[in-house]
Amino acid sequence: MNDYEKKARELVKKMTLDEKIGMIHGDGLFVTKGVPRLGIPPFVFSDGPCGVRQDFAKKEWKAASYTKDRVSYLPCNSAVAATWNRSLAKKTGKVLGEEARGRGKDMILAPGVNIKRSPLCGRNFEYFSEDPYLTGELASSLIDGIQRNDVAACVKHFAVNNQETDRWDVDTIVDRQTLDEIYFPPFRKAVDRGADAVMGAYNLLNSEHCCHSHFLLDEVLRGEWSFDGTVVSDWGGVRNTEEAALTSVDVEMSVYNNFDDYYMASPMKKLVQDGRIREQEIDKKVIHILVMMQKLHMLPGQKRKAGNYDTVSHQKKLLRTAEESIVLLKNKNDVLPLDINPGEKILLIGENADRTHAPRGGSAEIKALYEITPLLGLSAGLGGNNQVDYLPGYISGTDEAAQEAAWQAFSLGGDAASRQGIMTSDDIERINEKLCEEAMRVAPQYDHVIFIGGLNHAEDQEGHDRKDMSLPYGQPELISKLLTVCPGMIVVLIGGNPVEMDPWVDDAKALIWMYYNGMEGGKALAEVLTGKVNPSGHLPVTFYKKLSDCSAHRIGEFGKKGRVEYKERDLVGYRYLLEEGIEPQFPFGYGLSYTSFQISDITRSGNTVTFSVANTGERDGSCVIQIYRDHPGRKYHQLCGFTKVKVPAGGHIQAEITAEAPDIAELYIGEDCVRCSKID
Ligand code: BGC
Repeated sequence: MNDYEKKARELVKKMTLDEKIGMIHGDGLFVTKGVPRLGIPPFVFSDGPCGVRQDFAKKEWKAASYTKDRVSYLPCNSAVAATWNRSLAKKTGKVLGEEARGRGKDMILAPGVNIKRSPLCGRNFEYFSEDPYLTGELASSLIDGIQRNDVAACVKHFAVNNQETDRWDVDTIVDRQTLDEIYFPPFRKAVDRGADAVMGAYNLLNSEHCCHSHFLLDEVLRGEWSFDGTVVSDWGGVRNTEEAALTSVDVEMSVYNNFDDYYMASPMKKLVQDGRIREQEIDKKVIHILVMMQKLHMLPGQKRKAGNYDTVSHQKKLLRTAEESIVLLKNKNDVLPLDINPGEKILLIGENADRTHAPRGGSAEIKALYEITPLLGLSAGLGGNNQVDYLPGYISGTDEAAQEAAWQAFSLGGDAASRQGIMTSDDIERINEKLCEEAMRVAPQYDHVIFIGGLNHAEDQEGHDRKDMSLPYGQPELISKLLTVCPGMIVVLIGGNPVEMDPWVDDAKALIWMYYNGMEGGKALAEVLTGKVNPSGHLPVTFYKKLSDCSAHRIGEFGKKGRVEYKERDLVGYRYLLEEGIEPQFPFGYGLSYTSFQISDITRSGNTVTFSVANTGERDGSCVIQIYRDHPGRKYHQLCGFTKVKVPAGGHIQAEITAEAPDIAELYIGEDCVRCSKID
């Protein structure tokens, strides 16, 4: 028994049952009760993965409306994954931890490490990848960064929370081998690398509620993985008092204001008083919490680190992450980077050129100190000698400004809904036709035309899955038409999930993908467009040609209510495509650069691979080298190692990757899951 546990046990002995119960359930939306007479403070939680969430009234979902809770807005976890850079993930985590501590929080409810099983899941922007190794590596680096600041990270949502449809009640049926190969490894790695807390998921796994599943929490998490940290329920995720008492969930957090009626509040106390549950069961939970509090230096006599938020240093770090997350998907004839001469005129078309994303998406929403849009980033970066204009080209009708615009446009003759500022889909279609005509007419007058569209948090949102993978709001037609009048138009898509790229993708010369990229996202994009930064992001997911190429959809087992069976087993994402020989639009791991690289002198000793990377172009650049291994009994190979290296123009460097694979595994090396070759 270590000193923290000894002290925790001593404290528990002095506590009344009421005091213990106060520590194991929410006394407000984001806080539990402390025990002031013993010097134990209340414990304060906050979302989430994109920064520290705004404050709410203690017991109501009512924004506190302060100015003091404006914070740094981080690139979402998918963007962090697209960097393929562990050190940046750690630095990003450090920013999050410092901001959380600066805001007086004890636990940040991040990161989310659920596997992206389908490109329709509304929360995918909060998650990293379809691949367990990439997710585990970057999430654990991020957690390491967070926890440097006397703040606990809470890895969520344990487990298989891969769809939002019916998220409170859906029973996910997954066999043990699939759990071990695909869905568990990121959680396991987070635990092995010292995550202080784990959050249970809302859904059921094999008919047990995850928040008090004996299999998940007792057998796997505490048993097989020896997790000795704290297990927190998702908000409102506990559904049974007795099961919660007897399994390893330590804290129940809730969403409504009858906090004392919740399962682990008065009903739990009554079970103990009636002799149906031993008080020691409660003690175990309190001990976990008290050990964590000591690790965070929260108890009297301990010296706790101070945090900070909204610092210039945070902004700089987030810019770096944003820059490295941008993925160049096409660049025919090297049309990028743009060569913009003084006096040339630039036109940005598309709602995402002038739209902020921070304040939406669900619990990952952020009240950002600022958010640089692409329009602002490009205008500010060009130095005033160029005219930069913006045309919407389309509207999504999903924000107040657009609603207002619609009201203006239709106030003289629209229907009743549009007069009240609520647009119908017919209204949006009619407006979009006009906006398309306008863009087609105006665009040819410009020297450079950049389309910046994609998704927004009306699609990528907690509690909701997309219906299909199409690019919404008439964008496919708009892009196709614009490419006929401006064949050199650059296409930039922003979003949290892949979209179909038919029928325009073959016609577009240049294509950039950017995830929701934080407060400096627009600046980072401008730097990539103009060549100040050489892109080095790689896709952390497969971009399918069509939805039915994704295994979960092929078998019709996604987004159903009641019960979803993971019959595709381990054939998730690129594994399925490689197994079946299906061609993706863009493969997992893919990403271009303004220069090119060549790998040579590959040697292998056990599971360590050494090689040389040459930069054969004229710009300095960073390259992501990936190692895959074979999978016994399957045709596919799976990611088991990677490194990101910076190589100066014309130069070369030596690098080494230790693969997470047995010595006897076949290994492959390359720049994505398709362009890789077997190591002899
Ligand atoms: C979400 C969690 C979040 C919690 C607190 C839940 O609805 O699933 O991810 O941390 O709310 O806001």
